[in-house]
Order: sequence, then structure tokens, then C-alpha cells
Amino acid sequence: MNAPATVQDQSARDVARYQASRRVMPALAEGLSAEDLQAQSMPDCSPGKWHLAHTTWFYEALILSRDPDYRPFDPVWFTLFNSYYDGVGERIARDRRSLITRPSLDDVMAYRREIDRRMVERLRAGLTDGEGRYLFVLGLNHEQQHQELFLMDLLNLMTGSPLDPAAYDREPGWRSDQTPRGGWEAFDGGLATIGHDGAGFAFDNEGPAHPVHLQPFQLARDLVTNGQWLEFMADGGYRRPELWLSDGWATARTEGWQAPLYWQSDDAGWTVMTLTGRQPVDPEAPVCHISLYEADAFARWSGARLPTEAEWEHAARTRPDAFAGLDGQVWQHTASAYAPYPGFRTTPGVAAEYNGKFMANQGVLRGSCFATPPDHRRLTYRNFYYPHQRWAFAGLRLARDAD
Ligand code: AVJ
Ligand code: FE
Repeated sequence: MNAPATVQDQSARDVARYQASRRVMPALAEGLSAEDLQAQSMPDCSPGKWHLAHTTWFYEALILSRDPDYRPFDPVWFTLFNSYYDGVGERIARDRRSLITRPSLDDVMAYRREIDRRMVERLRAGLTDGEGRYLFVLGLNHEQQHQELFLMDLLNLMTGSPLDPAAYDREPGWRSDQTPRGGWEAFDGGLATIGHDGAGFAFDNEGPAHPVHLQPFQLARDLVTNGQWLEFMADGGYRRPELWLSDGWATARTEGWQAPLYWQSDDAGWTVMTLTGRQPVDPEAPVCHISLYEADAFARWSGARLPTEAEWEHAARTRPDAFAGLDGQVWQHTASAYAPYPGFRTTPGVAAEYNGKFMANQGVLRGSCFATPPDHRRLTYRNFYYPHQRWAFAGLRLARDAD
């Protein structure tokens, strides 16, 4: 039998986890220039430098500030790197983040080092109360979310350059390698339980666990591929209003959508911009960089539909080995609106603003993508984007009603 973990064991583990998680983003930034890390390609995206600073600020705002005597590293920086927490105080508009040329990149890296020093000191002293421990693990998970956002935003920036720059020699991340299985997996209807049951960390929006009623359904064993998407395009997918939701059609017209984001065609065929530069579109690879509107139109064209998040979770929970690409390829759009589960409670305190206040007009995406760290992936995870947004590493898996 193991002896109960002592506070020292726990704090040593905390320090190790903290330091490991904090090494990732600087490593992603290492080969990039200060200019690469300063620019902001659109209001939805943030500069790399801002991600490096904001994840640091998060530890100041949510953990270190719990000490009533805490003095911020710099009270002005404290407002510069606040993303959206009105309860914390002032912030600058999201679309002006690239205008933060001071502090410099070097200054931001020094900020990271100093807050890391303070956090390690705090963790060594022992973080033992329940709320403090939850906020600490929330900080680790927040850092991981921004590791993915860092790569999403960087790709969007690189795509804006006619040089088609390769941000990396090899694709960063943790892509899962799964062979396609083909066909559909059938599920009976009835009561199923979805949502996080409270064991281990989850974001507040993943709970509580609750019963849902499912009609019999089928879920595709594979993700939709680029090859299938090319068929949709060739069949006039982007030109046929009957396939589209009204808002989707209006967006597709206004934005001139004719293919997934980052695709381009020339004499040699279709290419797609990636983190390793512009590459030929691989017909076998899962389609990526499509909005919820496009996913929905594709599903309608296929004579199928998007799965609900309850269908997705029930299938992934009960038969994970039946499917390819549930995790580690592309996030999967669902038909479910991002809304609170019955009995939803926000995390108390400042972190109440983390997820709950965004529960309007967004769609839920399930699974994870290659840029999601493996220990950040969860069956109950609810990612969310607005239906027109395309820059996430998002694709789809089809569902249909039982025969
Ligand atoms: C879940 C990816 C939509 O980008 O706002 C980052 C993640 N939350 N910091 C977002 C998040 C707080 C969130 N998404
Ligand atoms: Fe954040």
C-alpha cells in the first residue's frame, strides 16, 4: 500500500507539472522572429507575444492575486494582457493587441520567467485548499488551450503572406495516426449519460453529468476527407443555396467562400496552407478549416446530418475503438448549440467568466485536434466557436438517423 501523499510530494508534482506545461509555448515560439510574434492577422487572432504574456497574466490574476497583499508584476501590464475578464478590471480591445509593441518580446519572456519564479515559490509553499488547487489545474489547462490557439493564429498569419512561409520544418503538435475504418456504427436509442461526473479536472461547461434521451442513430467511423470535400465542391456545393442554412448562405456569398479556408487552386490543382508551408491537398486527409455553416451544408449534400454532441459523446464513450480520428486530427463540428447543461454552475469567483458567459450563438465541437496536447483531450470536452469561424483546426464526422 502506498502511504498517503504528503504535501511535499504533492507540491513537487505541482512544480514539475507547472514547469513542463510552461516550456511548451516558448518552444513553439523559438524559431519565430519577434515580427512573427508581434503581428495580428485578424481580430479573432492574437499575436504570439500576446499568448505568451496572457497565459502568464492568468496565473497572476487567478492564483497569485488570491494573496491579498499581492502586487502585480506591473499594474499596466495587468490590463494589457487581460483577455476578457471584466471582474478583474480594465483591458484593451482584442483587435488592438498587435499595437502592444511595448513591452517587447524580450520583456515578455522576462515576465514569464518572473511569474514562473513566483508560481514555483507559491507551489513549494503548498497549494492545498480545494479552490486553489482547482484554479491551479485550470491555469495548466488554460496554458494548453493557448498552445493550440498560438498555432491556429500563427497559421492564419503565415497564410496572409504571399511567401507562403513554413512556420516549422515539421508539423508541431501531437497528431494521432489512425487508419480509416469505413462505414457506419449503429447505436440503439434510449437513455444515455453525458457530461463530466466530477472525477478529475474538467472545465465547468462539461458538467454536470446528466441523462439524455437518444433516438437510434448511426455515426460515421471516419472523418470526412478532403477527397469527399472535393466531390462536394465539384457538385456545386458552394453554389447551391438549397444545401445551406440562411445565415450560412449569406456568409458564404459575402465572404466569397468556394473552398475551405487556406485552400488555393492553380494549374497543378488544389493546395492548402499549413504550418509547414503550402502543400498539395491530400485527398485521404481529414478536411480542415471549415465553418459550422460549411459542415452543415456538406452533411445535407451527403444526405446525412451533423451528430449532436450527446450522440458523439455516447458513441465515443461506449465504443471508442470503433472509430478513427475521434482525437488528435481535427475538432468535429456538431449540431448542438453551446448552451448550459441542466444544473450547470459556473466556477465560483473570477473564473466564472471563463466559459459560461459565451453560451450564446456558438456551436459545440467535439474530440480534439493535432494541436491539442494529449493530456488536454477529454471525452466530455466542449470546444466552441461561432458558426462562421474557420480558422480552428476543425472538420467533421457525419451522423444519420437509423435505417
Ligand atoms: C474554448 C478555444 C473558444 O479561445 O476563448 C482561452 C479557450 N478560454 N482562454 C477561447 C480559452 C480562455 C476558448 N475556446
Ligand atoms: Fe485565455
